[in-house]
Amino acid sequence: MEFQIVVANESHFGYAQEICDHMEASAKQRGTGIAKRYPEYICKKMTEGKAVIALKGDEFAGFCYIETWGHGKYVANSGLIVKETMRQSGLAKKIKSSVFELSRQKYPEAKIFGITTSAAVMKINSELGYKPVPFADLTDDEEFWAGCKSCSNHDILQRTQRKYCLCTGMLYDPVKEKNTVDADKTDRKVAIHARWMQMKADMLLEQEATAQAQDGQKTEQKAGFVSPRYDIMPN
Ligand SMILES: CC(C)(COP(=O)(O)OP(=O)(O)OC[C@H]1O[C@@H](n2cnc3c(N)ncnc32)[C@H](O)[C@@H]1OP(=O)(O)O)[C@@H](O)C(=O)NCCC(=O)NCCS
Repeated sequence: MEFQIVVANESHFGYAQEICDHMEASAKQRGTGIAKRYPEYICKKMTEGKAVIALKGDEFAGFCYIETWGHGKYVANSGLIVKETMRQSGLAKKIKSSVFELSRQKYPEAKIFGITTSAAVMKINSELGYKPVPFADLTDDEEFWAGCKSCSNHDILQRTQRKYCLCTGMLYDPVKEKNTVDADKTDRKVAIHARWMQMKADMLLEQEATAQAQDGQKTEQKAGFVSPRYDIMPN
């Protein structure tokens, strides 16, 4: 059966506890102490239309939600979880892509970022256009960084004055992406224009050469001279 991936709403409240349980179990398994999420918080995200849920029939399959930081200048797609039995089938990629689109619709000006140690998440983020960046390029919203306090590696973050930790910071900057797309478009326009100018130059040169050849022939004929070129006839 195919997965159904939708923007979550009140009709999905019944999955909130299960989502939290999966998040907690996976955090324990990975040995990270991510901030514990409670069903009330998950339901709030669902009510606000800031979460994406994946279902297989009625069965829970995956989840992710949007958080805003720095007065909406930054957006994070957090709490990504795929049920263990449903992993490795491209579901996280679909959920992340869906929550990314939702974030772009809701906050078109915002920078979208994440911090992660997960190779899968880094791969997915890269495909969506995120770039690895120093932590200094991420939000300085204290509340966001407070979420790291329950992580077992928090001492590293403190020791480095929040410069780096085991997580990699990744950022999608809509302005930089737009400039890249615009630059690509300009490059393409310049390339097409250059090709067109080259074709035109070739045509003009050819016309000129033909005209010169015809002029030369007339002159030669007038002088009673036949160019050797016209003497060479196929056997
Ligand atoms: C991380 C997680 C969400 C991935 O879910 P998933 O549905 O298995 O991921 P996908 O199948 O969409 O895989 C996406 C890509 O990552 C790769 N990938 C998946 N799991 C991987 C792993 N453990 N290590 C390395 N790469 C992995 C896949 O091969 C795929 O790459 P591809 O496009 O080249 O095929 C899931 O393992 C999970 O819920 N883990 C626990 C919670 C967690 O770690 N959340 C992230 C917190 S930042």
